[in-house]
Amino acid sequence: MKFLVTGGAGFIGTNFTRFLARQGVGITVLDKLTYAGRRENLKDLEEAGLIEFVQGDICDPAAVAKAMSGADVVVNFAAETHVDRSIEDPSDFVRTDVEGVRVLLEEFRSWKKRKLFLQVSTDEVYGSVETGSSREADPLCPRSPYSASKAGGELLAMSYFHTWSVPVIVTRASNNYGPWQYPEKLIPLFVTNAMDGQELPIYGDGLNRRDWLYVEDHCRALQSVVERGQPGRVYNIGSGEEQTNMEITTSILDLVGADRSLIRHISDRPGHDRRYALDTSRIKGELGWEPETDLRRGLASTVEWYKANRQWWEEIKSGKFREYYRQMYAGRLADSKEAGR
Ligand code: NAD
Ligand code: TYD
Repeated sequence: MKFLVTGGAGFIGTNFTRFLARQGVGITVLDKLTYAGRRENLKDLEEAGLIEFVQGDICDPAAVAKAMSGADVVVNFAAETHVDRSIEDPSDFVRTDVEGVRVLLEEFRSWKKRKLFLQVSTDEVYGSVETGSSREADPLCPRSPYSASKAGGELLAMSYFHTWSVPVIVTRASNNYGPWQYPEKLIPLFVTNAMDGQELPIYGDGLNRRDWLYVEDHCRALQSVVERGQPGRVYNIGSGEEQTNMEITTSILDLVGADRSLIRHISDRPGHDRRYALDTSRIKGELGWEPETDLRRGLASTVEWYKANRQWWEEIKSGKFREYYRQMYAGRLADSKEAGR
């Protein structure tokens, strides 16, 4: 098998590319290197000749044709991924997460040697689930511009299966965490803020719940889908370890050894989904996948990684991220201080 990994310089893409490279398969990475992509994550693999890196946009047919040459499996991670940014401006989300998927599929459709197009999607497409857990056949009810674009992308991907018999599989994973996650997301933001003695801005009451999946377990799940998944099918991928944001935050503070007084409740994210939860019996029953790293162990090793790789995240947080953080948080943190929250 020869893989094209799109978005391979982002968080999950980096982990997946490194996971694949350990198995000695041929890999091309196509990545636009947006604010979230970092070529340095894969530098050692590039230098060792284990991957070919192509900088390019999945919306650009010429870049896609070049990168896809010779590949028989495409794993599409490339996307705009942060809900808060999608609320500020949805345009890049629709472009990359829907149109980009179309461009990739058009090229893949023309390949004779094609084996599988794996569209990496998210549990957020089900929308907020107050009770119970989402099954693959449940209706989609995305509620943010991010999740709506991801829903559009995966529905389009599946239409290529039904219309042109293109072998497509969609996976819907829960909230990932682990090494190389960009520090705009909850866990790396709070770990790095806590390490620097900075406030941890919790949206609303902090009782929103997420299922937390260690990224390495996600990579293993994707591998089992590539090897044994059935085209035309959707697979949920989750750990079953559900926690409120407050619970995760206190665990982080304890692991870092920082004080709980750093917690600040700030004004809520508009349309903030209360809860996501997945029924994962399909992937467990059909493909024999099980998560291996529990949240306690996964969170501890994630904190260790951020401790050991300070340079990686300090470089990000001292660049353009500063302005992003000021724009998203400064006013809300000041308001919360004034209100004594
Ligand atoms: P990320 O934001 O860390 O990385 C995204 C990568 O895609 C970056 O390297 C970026 O440069 C690249 N990219 C963006 N636009 C591009 C374009 N037009 N052309 C080429 N490359 C482009 O994202 P992530 O957290 O690693 O998520 C990867 C995928 O997994 C996404 O599709 C996301 O929807 C999905 N997913 C993420 C999670 C999660 O918790 N992080 C959970 C479920 C599903
Ligand atoms: P996030 O990492 O953005 O993932 P998603 O919204 O895609 O699930 O956020 C995870 C949870 O943490 C979500 O309920 C929003 C909340 N959150 C905060 O309370 N404060 C923050 O600064 C961030 C980034 C997220």
